[in-house]
Amino acid sequence: MKVLVTGGAGYIGAACVEQLCEAGHTVTVLDNLREGHRSAVDPRARFVRLCLSEREAVLRVVRESGAQAIVHFAALALVGESMTDPSRYFRNNVAYGLNLLDAAVAAGVRKLIFSSTCATYGQPERLPITEDLPQRPINPYGESKLMFERLLGWYERLHGLEFVAFRYFNAAGATERCGEDHRVETHLIPNVLKVALGRAAQCEIYGTDYPTPDGTCIRDYIHISDLADAHIRALAPGARGFFNLGNGAGYSVREVVRMCEEVSGVRIPVVERPRRPGDPPRLVASAEKAMRELGWRPRFPGLREIVASAWAWHRAHPDGYAD
Ligand SMILES: NC(=O)c1ccc[n+]([C@@H]2O[C@H](COP(=O)([O-])OP(=O)(O)OC[C@H]3O[C@@H](n4cnc5c(N)ncnc54)[C@H](O)[C@@H]3O)[C@@H](O)[C@H]2O)c1
Repeated sequence: MKVLVTGGAGYIGAACVEQLCEAGHTVTVLDNLREGHRSAVDPRARFVRLCLSEREAVLRVVRESGAQAIVHFAALALVGESMTDPSRYFRNNVAYGLNLLDAAVAAGVRKLIFSSTCATYGQPERLPITEDLPQRPINPYGESKLMFERLLGWYERLHGLEFVAFRYFNAAGATERCGEDHRVETHLIPNVLKVALGRAAQCEIYGTDYPTPDGTCIRDYIHISDLADAHIRALAPGARGFFNLGNGAGYSVREVVRMCEEVSGVRIPVVERPRRPGDPPRLVASAEKAMRELGWRPRFPGLREIVASAWAWHRAHPDGYAD
């Protein structure tokens, strides 16, 4: 199938492009390289450097690609930054995303697969989080993703553009080629491994008095290869709707730090900081729906294998993609 991938030079997008190419799909990547890396893009894919803000050019690229489906990863994704510059988030993630939706309709694309997030749920009423729980985002990032989910509903209803929206929990891990190299890194595992690599002196834990067994926040980590696999399943006819993607198992911040120590063999100095506003104590997914309807199963569910894959990538790429 011909597939256009936006944000395909980013962390999760690059791993998905790799798997799409592996599966024999013809892939065009569209990315403005604001965050992504050219060398992360699988050489089998065609690469176009373009911002989704360029409405006419986006339509041209979608048409030229002949895409039957679009996988839409491109977004700004820093929760803290979205609280200080909400306009940028709504513009990039919603308004520019609209250019992509209009291009998809104009070019006759059949389906769009969207990277949504568990941040659309805000503070969940109960755990594990199922897709039918109320969505009440507590930051502009989550709100922008929820707004795009709603646009998808309207575009399906009014233009027949089918969609699958995946609400990822904490993406983690690496493939041999693709790993995490964000300019501003806010994710726990790469930040802890930076210490193990000798690139940072210590790691910080925000909040040690949560109502959890060791007092630190619990999150659900899902390997990027498992996320990529779900996207490929979503290309199949009949796959439609909203799906959580997580392991259903939560690990605390201290458990993650301990696992990084075990895997790397390096002791990690930790500095305890106060809670950050808006961090729920626990976020754990139910991915039953994706398992039932898409036949998806995480192949790398264990924290050890997730951390070990990330450690292998960071050791091989101590300067990240270096571009
Ligand atoms: N990383 C996670 O844990 C996580 C969790 C939930 C959801 N998500 C979502 O998954 C997607 C991918 O996340 P990631 O961690 O790989 O992020 P990333 O920043 O590594 O990748 C995003 C890519 O999109 C590109 N991009 C952004 N705005 C663009 C624009 N206007 N035009 C063209 N390209 C643009 C960036 O250059 C980058 O390569 C995002 O939509 C994010 O919101 C990520």
